[in-house]
Amino acid sequence: MRAAILTSPDHSHPPKLELVDTLDPPVPSPGQVLIKVDATSITPAEYTWPATWTDRAGEPRERPIVLGHDLSGVIHSLALGDSTTFQPGDAVYALTDFHRNGAQAEYAVANLSELARRPRNLDPASAAGVPLAALTAYQALVEHGDVREGMRVLVHGGAGGVGMFAVQMAKRFGARVLATASAEKVGFVKSIGADEVVDYRMERFEDVVGKVDVVVDTAGGETLRRSYSVVVPGGVLVTVETEAVDMGLVDVKMADKLGIQVKTFIVRGDGRQLEKITDMIEEGHVKVFVDRVFPLKRAMEAVEYGEGKNKGIGKTIIKLMHD
Ligand SMILES: NC(=O)c1ccc[n+]([C@@H]2O[C@H](COP(=O)([O-])OP(=O)(O)OC[C@H]3O[C@@H](n4cnc5c(N)ncnc54)[C@H](OP(=O)(O)O)[C@@H]3O)[C@@H](O)[C@H]2O)c1
Repeated sequence: MRAAILTSPDHSHPPKLELVDTLDPPVPSPGQVLIKVDATSITPAEYTWPATWTDRAGEPRERPIVLGHDLSGVIHSLALGDSTTFQPGDAVYALTDFHRNGAQAEYAVANLSELARRPRNLDPASAAGVPLAALTAYQALVEHGDVREGMRVLVHGGAGGVGMFAVQMAKRFGARVLATASAEKVGFVKSIGADEVVDYRMERFEDVVGKVDVVVDTAGGETLRRSYSVVVPGGVLVTVETEAVDMGLVDVKMADKLGIQVKTFIVRGDGRQLEKITDMIEEGHVKVFVDRVFPLKRAMEAVEYGEGKNKGIGKTIIKLMHD
């Protein structure tokens, strides 16, 4: 099969990819399916993650390594003996295990527990932009923030990959949604349902938003540090920013003093939650935005674009079909 394989010796920047057409398709184990991939998305910095380079035991992963854990495709075959409601030919999508090879390839394996029905109103390429970002937003709001109707929720980075899902889902859950964004994206964030949007370069959000029940932070750094003060006692500050812990910004002592909780987590694939996201997309409560679509043969360019500063609103997609 054709695939873009990671040829960099380590996680130094920029990552190097090479297109090959000689790989054998992966073989699904019990509990897994083989998927003919339609599309995948670019997740910035994926090439730096420990899971890209080592297995669960911490040993170096077998080469070749294939990136791309957002997967949109059609089930090709099930593992022998598995019984499931999914059948060959079903259009599905998933966030797949970070320790396994991903979907920058014609075929990829997914766990049955990761799979969900692909939304009928999304084309296969757009669906590839959903699982990782939308599950992150869902897990932040539902599992960690316990967001309910009538709560006030502040989303930092409301126009970003995760933030745009968080804004739309929080609205769907009946929250009053406040968000931060740069000036040129304020209109977009309002258009997807935010009740108030603060231009974070012009105003200090803590001077504008008042107190909130939940903060979903995708920006980290000073934004996260300053967010403790806007959470009501009993409320939750959830950050998904990857470096927050290393930078000492997940400050449990400070949170205790304020009577709030501070949390962080790494998103995981979850087919049941993704089915709920499918429903929200099909019901029109959550819209999906794609920035640019590249063919697999331009995977290197797609990664450079998706990692870069000049990307627009929505995900960068690699499309396998009609390549
Ligand atoms: N923990 C997990 O499992 C998990 C999962 C997914 C992502 N992440 C992490 O979450 C972060 C965001 O990911 P993403 O895909 O949403 O990135 P993204 O698409 O690049 O969006 C980041 C957003 O942050 C905004 N931003 C930058 N500085 C800000 C500030 N000072 N105040 C408010 N907003 C600010 C940007 O807004 P403007 O463009 O308007 O300037 C941008 O829209 C990354 O660090 C990523 O690694 C973690």
